[in-house]
Amino acid sequence: MSFIPLMQPSILDDDIEAVTKVLKSGMLIQGKEVEFLESAFSNYNSVSNAIALSNGTATLHLALIALGVGEGDEVIVPAFSYIATANVVELVGAIPVFVDINIGTFNIDVNKIEAAITPKTKVIMPVHEFGLVADMDQIMQIAKAHNLFVIEDAACALGSKHNNKFAGTWGDFGSFSLHPRKAITSGEGGVLITSNDSLARQIKIKRNHGVEIVEGKMEFVDVGYNYRMTDFQAALVNSQFKRLDHGIKYKQSLAQIYFNEIKSPKVRLPFVPSGKYHTWQTFHVLLDDSLDRDEVILKLREAGIGTNYGAQCMPFMKYYQQKYKLNCEHLYPEALRAFKQGLALPLYEKLTEIDIKKVCDVLNKIL
Ligand SMILES: Cc1ncc(COP(=O)(O)O)c(C=O)c1O
Repeated sequence: MSFIPLMQPSILDDDIEAVTKVLKSGMLIQGKEVEFLESAFSNYNSVSNAIALSNGTATLHLALIALGVGEGDEVIVPAFSYIATANVVELVGAIPVFVDINIGTFNIDVNKIEAAITPKTKVIMPVHEFGLVADMDQIMQIAKAHNLFVIEDAACALGSKHNNKFAGTWGDFGSFSLHPRKAITSGEGGVLITSNDSLARQIKIKRNHGVEIVEGKMEFVDVGYNYRMTDFQAALVNSQFKRLDHGIKYKQSLAQIYFNEIKSPKVRLPFVPSGKYHTWQTFHVLLDDSLDRDEVILKLREAGIGTNYGAQCMPFMKYYQQKYKLNCEHLYPEALRAFKQGLALPLYEKLTEIDIKKVCDVLNKIL
């Protein structure tokens, strides 16, 4: 029996050739391919700056640092996301203030943001969960009214749009991950986009040990990290970038099969509000409360299908529970439900319509 894994990146011979070419050149660290990747990302998103970094956690981390977020500041994040979203806030010494999500879209509930704002709030960090753009117009209005920065965690949302505007282009920063579960991948990698040239300059200095070229000379003008991307990783992304839009369209067609073929009333399908262009980094459904989600995962595995939970209810995770002791059942019921009853189904370019129909058949039978 062939197994359908939850995720597999699409790496073609051309991509491998592009990487090999860089490896053979001997120029391995940040160079021409990284430069090319940065211009590809800024052109694609129509922004003036894109900075390639070592991963999508580094991008969020540097975005917070560049905005001066630190000790005692508060950053509003959705309660349901991959844990990196909250971890980066902890890493700069600030406090993640969790806001519950909308259970239909799995994105931050914009109606609950204002109640979470205090005089210490500095940033709103919405996540475009699973590739669906959050309600950015409302979020930007709130941010403007309260004089707050916005960092879009668009780790899963390269190419996603709302009313034809790309994810990552509303806020002060948009942050993308190039992890193998994303639309295109460098293995590990991330890209930060911004239309603010001064912020972009700071990020470039910080990613490379605080170095800046001043009048042709290397000057150590700041303290910094080594958050660089290698040139062979960038080559891998550059090669895949040509297929990005085609890949998104193909995944949209596979997602439609899920919508048509999942018949079980015990599965709640994702909701895509009008005007949103979902890129389906993950096809995430919600199982009925009567079902044991982990048992369903095991049964699907036995039937040859890899699935998993989609993201964490972050304040419910051990570190956050111990530190903040938040009553998640009471404060974040929807995020907790999404964490406990959520199920990520296989959806990626390597799958065929037959594969997706098989997942639907098995799911309908098991439930
Ligand atoms: C929403 C979200 N934010 C941040 C990250 C971190 O990205 P990376 O794994 O590239 O560090 C991820 C990674 O999966 C993510 O899904």
